Amino acid sequence: MKASIVLLPGDGIGPEITAQAHRVLEKVATVFGHDFEFSSHLIGGIAIDETGDPLPQDTIDACRTSQAILLGAVGGPKWDDPSAKTRPEAGLLKIRKELGLFANLRPIKLYDELVDSSPLKREIIEGTDILFLRELTGGIYFGPSGRSGSGADESASQAMVYSVSEVERIVRLAAKAAQGRRGQLTSVDKANVLEPSRLWRQVAARVMETEFPDVKYDVVLVDSMAMHLINRPKDFDVVVTGNMFGDILTDEASMLPGSLGMLPSASLGSDGPGLYEPIHGSAPDIAGKGIANPLATILAGAMLLRHSLGLESEAKAIETAVSGVLAAGLRTADLARGGDSIGTEAMGDAVLERIQAS
Ligand code: NAD
Ligand code: IPM
Ligand code: MN
Repeated sequence: MKASIVLLPGDGIGPEITAQAHRVLEKVATVFGHDFEFSSHLIGGIAIDETGDPLPQDTIDACRTSQAILLGAVGGPKWDDPSAKTRPEAGLLKIRKELGLFANLRPIKLYDELVDSSPLKREIIEGTDILFLRELTGGIYFGPSGRSGSGADESASQAMVYSVSEVERIVRLAAKAAQGRRGQLTSVDKANVLEPSRLWRQVAARVMETEFPDVKYDVVLVDSMAMHLINRPKDFDVVVTGNMFGDILTDEASMLPGSLGMLPSASLGSDGPGLYEPIHGSAPDIAGKGIANPLATILAGAMLLRHSLGLESEAKAIETAVSGVLAAGLRTADLARGGDSIGTEAMGDAVLERIQAS
């Protein structure tokens, strides 16, 4: 297969982890006989530094004509001034919106070998396997915002807005995913307080009742979900929720497998290229030290092969290699929790040498 893949390394540890995922994808291409063409483009803080824009038009054009996009991370203290004209994160939000990537799949998969890397007890987390579907192009992230007044009377607002069709399409996707898994869907909202959540709950209930009577469906309030997630994670199969709740709950959920450095994600639209990235950020506290965990980004590469290129065996080859590395006891510092650890590149090497055609 011929495919063009855009790399968006971004900021902080972004370039370090993307480099490893790139090497792994090159190895997959060699082993399975594919022709992947990679091109690297600017996004985030580095794009602001070089062009003044966190998402230059060049980058958008390259993404649009590609089959898939692999992103590292954006942001960092250098661009954190609250009064700055623009921010690195604006580039990420814009590419999601431009490409219509409304569905963010965030699988929370536990590796047996990592059970002791989690801060949570073995008996709580063993058997956890959750797929989060986070709505990604609506809600409070994209609602009208602004400031008015001055001095002590200055105020700021940002509205949470959801339309019926935005809720329908993400709930349908989540319900279909549940049909292919354990047949269970949980919708998370804050319908006891927020009007958009009440709309979300009504629409979701109608879609489930009329279109997916075979899927076991329940609703949980987001504050309660934050608790259930670490108390009884095994009870959840597919979880669907809005943009901000999904952002927060999945960082929390990363403690089930043990580290933010393990969680990949896929952002998909109804057509066009998908965007694949780790759920974590640019980790400025460890950037440049060569110790970041590249596995989330490498696993995002596996999701890219599966969802955008339809290469299931190749995706499995990466996931099997990652399991093999963990079984061999290799750990980056975030997973080692004080024990022996290896660096970013050595982890990339270890995955690379285990990539085999099935
Ligand atoms: P973060 O996810 O970057 O880091 C949180 C903690 O997890 C840090 O201690 C970090 O060292 C650790 N960590 C994260 N990824 C790791 C990895 N691969 N290996 C080992 N340790 C890892 O969150 P933050 O510090 O709150 O945010 C830093 C910057 O990243 C901010 O500018 C934020 O806006 C941005 N951000 C970007 C994305 C993205 O590009 N998708 C996602 C989240 C945050
Ligand atoms: C994520 C990040 C982003 C988000 C930021 C950097 C815009 O936290 O991908 O989870 O909030 O969506
Ligand atoms: Mn986040």
